[in-house]
Amino acid sequence: MDFSLSEEHLMIRDAARDFARTELLPGVIERDNQQKFPAEQVKKMGELGFLGMMVDPKYGGGGMDTVSYVLVMEELSKIDASCSVIVSVNNSLVCYGLEKFGTEEQKQKYLTKLATGEKLGAFCLSEPEAGSDATSQRTTAIDKGDHYVLNGTKNWITNGGSADFYLVIAQTDKEKKHKGINAFIVEKGWEGFEVGPKEDKLGIRGSDTHSLIFNDVKVPKENRIGEDGFGFKFAMKTLSGGRIGIASQALGIASGAYDLAREYSKVRKAFGTEICNHQAIAFKLADMHTSIEAARHLVMKAAWDKDQGNNYDMSGAMAKLYASQVAMDVTVEAVQVHGGNGYVKEYHVERLMRDAKITQIYEGTSEIQKIVISRGLLQD
Ligand code: CAA
Repeated sequence: MDFSLSEEHLMIRDAARDFARTELLPGVIERDNQQKFPAEQVKKMGELGFLGMMVDPKYGGGGMDTVSYVLVMEELSKIDASCSVIVSVNNSLVCYGLEKFGTEEQKQKYLTKLATGEKLGAFCLSEPEAGSDATSQRTTAIDKGDHYVLNGTKNWITNGGSADFYLVIAQTDKEKKHKGINAFIVEKGWEGFEVGPKEDKLGIRGSDTHSLIFNDVKVPKENRIGEDGFGFKFAMKTLSGGRIGIASQALGIASGAYDLAREYSKVRKAFGTEICNHQAIAFKLADMHTSIEAARHLVMKAAWDKDQGNNYDMSGAMAKLYASQVAMDVTVEAVQVHGGNGYVKEYHVERLMRDAKITQIYEGTSEIQKIVISRGLLQD
């Protein structure tokens, strides 16, 4: 068994690390305070190829593996989880969903622009009453022959205001339950499609989260993804990979907070010595580092499963479940190591602590991950 990273993996990790330090760190506190979408940074990430990392180069992507993707996600998330969620949604939900299940025409028209970062995507599943219970879609798409008519509201949509193309899940036949659900590509600006108010969030405040309202929106039939009734499976299959992205985001938040705590403990003095010389602090660092390493192994295993063509439903869910708990625990401890300074914005750890919480909620709460894992364990 070889745990080492290849030259290519190290290069892409280092490129993301440099980018995060030079381009994301300046202004991250201000963007968080002002809930400012990082438009300039997203443009640069597109130019670097971070928005379509795993897409085939023939559609404008980087043709990289999932291990490269999680390495980049970790580095971006150490500094700015608002930026990394944009990267995660565009790569593992939108680009993946289109590349894997879209038609050639859909790929040429939409994927080529999303993979290069020319356009941004959003994934629209959640509704006021269909968050965890994703089969209970209230948004309807009625078949009118050559088009569908879309009506309803989506909630908590990442990139909601900034996206250009939206993958929208809707109920076409209520009687058929989850087999009556479809997924559609909807463009911003279509008549009847309105972006609702921006959410005022606890964390990832730089990212752009909105409700979306569809009022008799005409969607051409060629914009349906897959066969009629494929929408729920489309969402589930896509979210399985998305969870690896969020697991790596959680890992990055945890390791970013740990790095800050470790550095701080080496310069801050109390009782006549640097606080890292007190076992109370050194043991915290030992626990933080150990749990981060365990999370990293789960994240890498899930990414490797995906790259090998293995089923990654369970390994992705385990990685997300564990890494998001580690992100919460480690960021709380990082604030504690910083003492009073940890509670003020300029030291960054309070932001990471707020950002950590969402990793236990989006792309399936921790409880949802336990459903996926336990079903996987008990299926045969
Ligand atoms: N791959 C393929 N098919 C799958 C699947 C998967 N991973 N998971 C389920 N399915 C299939 C099942 O096989 C079944 O198909 P058949 O009827 O043909 O056998 C069908 O889907 C229904 O499956 P279940 O009976 O298991 O469905 P369920 O209602 O019990 O729900 C669930 C399962 C895991 C709880 C699911 O509802 C779920 O994942 N919920 C959470 C949704 C979620 O993650 N929301 C997050 C929103 S997106 C977001 O946060 C993005 C963002 O902005 C950052």
